[in-house]
Amino acid sequence: MNSLAQDSQKAAARVGLVSDSITIHGGKPLRGRVEVRGAKNLVTKAMVASLLADTPSTLKGVPEISDVAVVSGLLKAHGVAIDSSAPGVLTLDPSNVVGAHFAEIDAHAGSSRIPILFCGPLLHQLGEAFIPDLGGCRIGDRPIDFHLNALRAFGAVVEKSYQGIHLTAPQKLVGADIELPFPSVGATEQVLLTAVRAEGTTELKNAAIEPEIMDLIAILQKMGAIISVEPNRVIVIEGVETLRGYTHTAIFDRNEAASWAAAALATGGDITVGGATQQELMTFLNVYRKVGGEFDVLEDGIRFWHPGGPLKPVMIETDVHPGFMTDWQQPLIVALTQAEGESVVHETVYENRFGFTEALNEMGANIVVHQSGLASITRRVPRRPLEQAAVITGPTPLHGADVRVPDLRGGFSHLIAALAAEGTSTVSNVGIISRGYELFIDKLRQLGADFELPSAVASDTAR
Ligand code: EPU
Repeated sequence: MNSLAQDSQKAAARVGLVSDSITIHGGKPLRGRVEVRGAKNLVTKAMVASLLADTPSTLKGVPEISDVAVVSGLLKAHGVAIDSSAPGVLTLDPSNVVGAHFAEIDAHAGSSRIPILFCGPLLHQLGEAFIPDLGGCRIGDRPIDFHLNALRAFGAVVEKSYQGIHLTAPQKLVGADIELPFPSVGATEQVLLTAVRAEGTTELKNAAIEPEIMDLIAILQKMGAIISVEPNRVIVIEGVETLRGYTHTAIFDRNEAASWAAAALATGGDITVGGATQQELMTFLNVYRKVGGEFDVLEDGIRFWHPGGPLKPVMIETDVHPGFMTDWQQPLIVALTQAEGESVVHETVYENRFGFTEALNEMGANIVVHQSGLASITRRVPRRPLEQAAVITGPTPLHGADVRVPDLRGGFSHLIAALAAEGTSTVSNVGIISRGYELFIDKLRQLGADFELPSAVASDTAR
């Protein structure tokens, strides 16, 4: 079994999803309501933030996804006591933080990129940290140079070995002036989680300002941190000696919300996403409307639907917030295969995030991926050296095929394509999808999808 298939099975098992493939009979609109809870890309970081405190934290809206299980495992390996008093509520008690044994950390290696964010908190609590080889989706090189350079600027000593990275703080970490080469989400979080307890002031330039980062800042402020978000992507953090635990409800998962919205459009359906709010999705909503999708902002969610008639092609460039998120392009591209004409999507954040389009082509799509940006197209987002472009020509009817999930968002787009396609598809490696989509099998059932799971394990997923 290759490592992707192993990762997929591990991810599936972590949330009790034993089946690693699904057979879908497509061509039927998805209709109904699904609820989204806390964002994967906030919840996992909020869990790490609990390490910085000297009293317990309570996090609400925690989804049942395998990335949460990975971070829980890593926190427990470091002595954090984790309890769940009610569904979606975690209490994280850092009173007895200890260094973890290599084997305990390594058991989680390769599963997620979150371990890199343990560095600052562990350096503050223990004076040292060990980070195993990092995982996450295979969507580009995904280096960690911004993270390590920032940690060095705070005074950490970084030693790399074949097993991972060992960091020490011979003296107390001190505030620093840091400018990121790119507004990286993870590196901004790294700086925040380290600067809050460093001695003195940190000024971070070219910071990421995604809504999940604003929510992390809100959490840190509840804990006692002093953080100001200033114009032009500057964040100033005044370090404090100690932090206390927080109580917080996580911001909703806008990537999951956008994925269900795309599923409604691609299948000609009508899906209400409970828990979604407009502010965080404004850029997505504009594009959704331009393509021809309809939406209605409700008191407790957003309803998305295909109004009938042809869809329109669009030009999209992925970008950092407030631009069009890189995580939204994969699900939306499935709907673009049904638009009348040529759509162009420039991926400017990751250098390898169109791998999923091969499977869509097998299902009848006409998508051509260019390894560099298309010079002929005028656009808003600056050109980047490693960017790629996908040209989607539609409409092309989709038909069933056997496809294999390559990564989290690409995998969800395979599900959508199989649901939109006429005929039967088998999607394998679906465990990867459980890294970021809570109870997606149950939600598909709620929306009236027609599918089967391998018979021996079918009941395991109905949770
Ligand atoms: N980069 C570097 N060096 C670094 C860090 C990043 O060159 O040290 C580059 C990356 O290679 C990439 C770009 O900077 O080309 C942006 O990466 P960023 O650090 O912003 O991404 P991340 O923090 O690793 C998070 C989300 C991703 C999401 C991106 C962009 C988490 C756990 N992951 O990744 O989510 O696509 O921000 O918004 O928060 C997903 O949910 O499927 C997912 C991949």
